Amino acid sequence: MNTASRFALIVAPVVLALMAGHLLSTPIALQAVERASDGPVLPKVDPNKHEVGDRRAGKNVFRMETFGNEGFWTDAVRLPAGILAAKFTPLDALRAGYQINVDAIDHAMRTAIAAELKTDLSPARAPHLNDVSTTVALINANAIIGVVARDSNADGRIDIASGDKVGVSCAFCHAITDGSVFSMPKGGSIGKEVDGPTPHFLNLGATFAIADNTRALFPIAQLALTANDGKTIGRAPKGLTSHSTEAEFDAYFSNPDYYPIGMFDDAFDGNGAPMHITPMFRTDLSAPWGSEGTISKLDNFSNLVYTSLLDLTGITTPGGRIFLHKLGGAAGDEIVDDYVKILAETHVTGYPYATIATKTTAGTEEGPIGLRVDNNKLLALNAYLNSLPAPAGATVDQAAAKRGKETFRASCTECHHVDQRKKVGPTIVPMKTIFPGDRPVILAQRDPPLNPVQNTVDNIFDDKMAVVNASLRGLDRGIAMPLLLDLARKPVFLHDNSVPDLDTLLNPSRGASSPHPFYVTDAGARADMVAFLKGLSAK
Ligand code: HEC
Ligand code: HEC
Repeated sequence: MNTASRFALIVAPVVLALMAGHLLSTPIALQAVERASDGPVLPKVDPNKHEVGDRRAGKNVFRMETFGNEGFWTDAVRLPAGILAAKFTPLDALRAGYQINVDAIDHAMRTAIAAELKTDLSPARAPHLNDVSTTVALINANAIIGVVARDSNADGRIDIASGDKVGVSCAFCHAITDGSVFSMPKGGSIGKEVDGPTPHFLNLGATFAIADNTRALFPIAQLALTANDGKTIGRAPKGLTSHSTEAEFDAYFSNPDYYPIGMFDDAFDGNGAPMHITPMFRTDLSAPWGSEGTISKLDNFSNLVYTSLLDLTGITTPGGRIFLHKLGGAAGDEIVDDYVKILAETHVTGYPYATIATKTTAGTEEGPIGLRVDNNKLLALNAYLNSLPAPAGATVDQAAAKRGKETFRASCTECHHVDQRKKVGPTIVPMKTIFPGDRPVILAQRDPPLNPVQNTVDNIFDDKMAVVNASLRGLDRGIAMPLLLDLARKPVFLHDNSVPDLDTLLNPSRGASSPHPFYVTDAGARADMVAFLKGLSAK
């Protein structure tokens, strides 16, 4: 729908009411009009409200808690071994978008690195930055944000080159630095840790590909399953199978056309559907969780991440099997069976690794695979994530932003709020509304409330939602509302990275059936809208 017709939708009743002489004499009607123009009306009781625990404890959970996933990343995926074998230098890490916390680096190393950063970065002039042993030292010092080194062999010191293990915390994908020491264009940075904003250039695919046993990531790769007649959903023309080699897995993950930068495939559903990493600040304003809004409570989302994403072997538990069967029927069973085979072939033992506190009923939101980590820590994390501030809006032309705001009021507030301090609406925007070109083919029937597995063949926008979507809790297959914050820093838009900038997002030349078809036709008005959007903050 274009701006004009959407505007007409909102304005028409007002005009009619005016003509009938009602508007000015009925304050109720006035109120309704005002609310409609400021954003969606929120329900009186928030259906997705989450409990909160100890915020200060939550910071440590966010940065350092692994719940044992160092077993997965070190012994199953063998990421540290791959880092050593590939001679992955600090410069490689920066090129891959890694974030380095300067406060964790000792004085001597900090001085050496600072001096080298002033050079041409060649191996001759910047030896530390070109040496894998510096990478190891940085990991040992827990200076690479979200890459958590543990004293696993309990010898009183951390050294990942002699038996200590490395896990992953939330901060790996959900933190940046202030860039105060160094910031690489389209890469990573060195500075003070800033939790919450997305590291947009984090190259997770390349990271996974350098691991020694990338096949251990089978459940989140793009697969071609027998149960689906070998058909595959994703960006690659062909799916991987349990017979695919390590080199074939590496080729999939390391190809940014298949596994784009800034994205992670957060569903073990056999689809190749990497999603752009979402912001993780002001979680009191967001919800439901996941682009498709499958999860209503923040702690339930975090629990899913800990029990089955940061340790994928969790899906091989009895509860994991129940959950995958519920989601994907025979295809779900096949994913688990193939995975168990791959783990055996690649000599992975001692799994699952996640430290579990309680058992739940498999298939529920509280513990999709029947397992839950320490609830106090999950609630502490809720409190910390709620407290993380949104970055300030960009400095923009105030007059332009003001004009943009009026257009926004007129054409965008059916879904978005004008005021970003308000919590986003809890509704799932149905796929047909957000993507009129959606023409899904039904691939498999499922038990209610789950909808059938379905996918639009020639478009990636709905790929994640084929299997995992809000029908799991009786809602539409569609997209949850995002925060409109920190937009000036975004290099790419929409959850599938399909739009390169804000002007393109709002340009009607993308067409009426494209994803998010809400346009501003006039180029000047569009520039004003872009200024308004980039300036948005939650202050
Ligand atoms: C390997 C990268 C990675 C790690 C590590 C990671 N996440 Fe995420 N996270 C993502 C991506 C990608 C998305 C977007 C998913 C989507 O759009 O559906 C996301 C989305 C989320 C969301 C939903 C946000 C929203 O607005 O819908 C929550 C909540 C979340 N992550 C919490 C966590 C927590 C808690 C941890 C640590 C336990 C964590 N994540 C670790 C990549 C990661
Ligand atoms: C029918 C509901 C709806 C309307 C109307 C709507 N949006 Fe959105 N908007 C969404 C949803 C849902 C998303 C998330 C889409 C995604 O990530 O795939 C979104 C995403 C966005 C984003 C991208 C955020 C990001 O981080 O990538 C921007 C910017 C945006 N909308 C601006 C606007 C503007 C400007 C208008 C009016 C011209 C508008 N929207 C109208 C529902 C809507």
